[in-house]
Amino acid sequence: MNSEYGGIGASELAIVMAIEELSRHCATTGLLLAVQQLGSTPVLLAGNEQQKRKYLPPLASGEWMAAFGLTEAGSGSDAAAMRTVAVREGDRYILNGSKRFITNGGLAQVNSIFALTDPKIGTRGISAFIVEKDFPGFSVGRIEDKMGIKGSQTAELIFTDCEVPAENLLGREGDGFKIAMMTLDRTRPGIGAQALGIAQGALDLAVSYSKQRVQFGRPIADNQGIQFMLADMATKIEASRLLVYNVAEMIDRGERDFSKYSAMAKMFASDAAMEVTNDAIQILGGYGYMKEYPAERMMRDAKITQIYEGTNQIQRLVIARDLLE
Ligand code: CAA
Repeated sequence: MNSEYGGIGASELAIVMAIEELSRHCATTGLLLAVQQLGSTPVLLAGNEQQKRKYLPPLASGEWMAAFGLTEAGSGSDAAAMRTVAVREGDRYILNGSKRFITNGGLAQVNSIFALTDPKIGTRGISAFIVEKDFPGFSVGRIEDKMGIKGSQTAELIFTDCEVPAENLLGREGDGFKIAMMTLDRTRPGIGAQALGIAQGALDLAVSYSKQRVQFGRPIADNQGIQFMLADMATKIEASRLLVYNVAEMIDRGERDFSKYSAMAKMFASDAAMEVTNDAIQILGGYGYMKEYPAERMMRDAKITQIYEGTNQIQRLVIARDLLE
């Protein structure tokens, strides 16, 4: 984040490298950075000076956590199908509805929330708000029990006549969908980096295990069957890294047309992470399937990277639309 607002002024490349390195050891820790970026980016992109000065410094320092509330029970890939509404009443908006699967839900002080201010006009009727955790009418519903990233809280957010000051509208009424899409374009590389880190961690483990595991009188790494698997894993990881770093550098250069590259990086790296972690378990054999080694955790953590911040089917849609427009 910009040093003007208390950040360290890190480049996008530095951010993805940090997420990668943390995720190499712990994907949940990598996610802390990625979600802080996701929840803060709507404010960075669309906030006015007053909003930025109020919210960004405590987000940059880590004093406050951030969350991004787009998904609902009936609105996942079809983000525009949301039902949460925001009605203007004098100097405030009244929000009613709920959000599901929200990373940091209930922990984040700053929630970038998307809601319908005009349900009749589709995506142009969606607006974005900064909702603080202690605003009246804001509450936390179910805390999800997940397959992976278990160190990260995922929760339902409920808005019951939730009062949001009108000054917390981001941009203008109707800007919300574009703010959400522009945010995801900038944060999907972070999920690619998380996947990349998980895959690198799994390869590191598979390499060291295969050198020390002796079967038939020699380390299993002496077998070409294992060597070929390791070579394929390393190549997929390197290709992922190049895609993730490339789009980060496009963002750093201020290029505008990077949506497709962001989708490619997230999609490829997460598919690769799923394959690589699966292969790592195979190389570790029975030990890989047990919780004694981290390989099975890596595979469970890799799975979500194919799903959140847009499923990989949606990434393919974004790429194909760009090709065909
Ligand atoms: N940048 C700017 N504007 C964009 C845009 C982009 N990348 N993509 C679309 N828009 C604009 C369009 O230009 C269009 O504008 P006009 O009204 O001016 O024409 C408007 O937005 C509507 O666009 P579409 O017609 O393309 O919208 P759509 O309804 O077909 O949806 C979609 C497009 C790509 C499928 C979108 O719904 C999508 O990205 N879905 C996936 C949602 C997603 O990623 N959710 C993840 C939730 S966050 C999460 O997972 C967090 C976590 O836990 C870590």
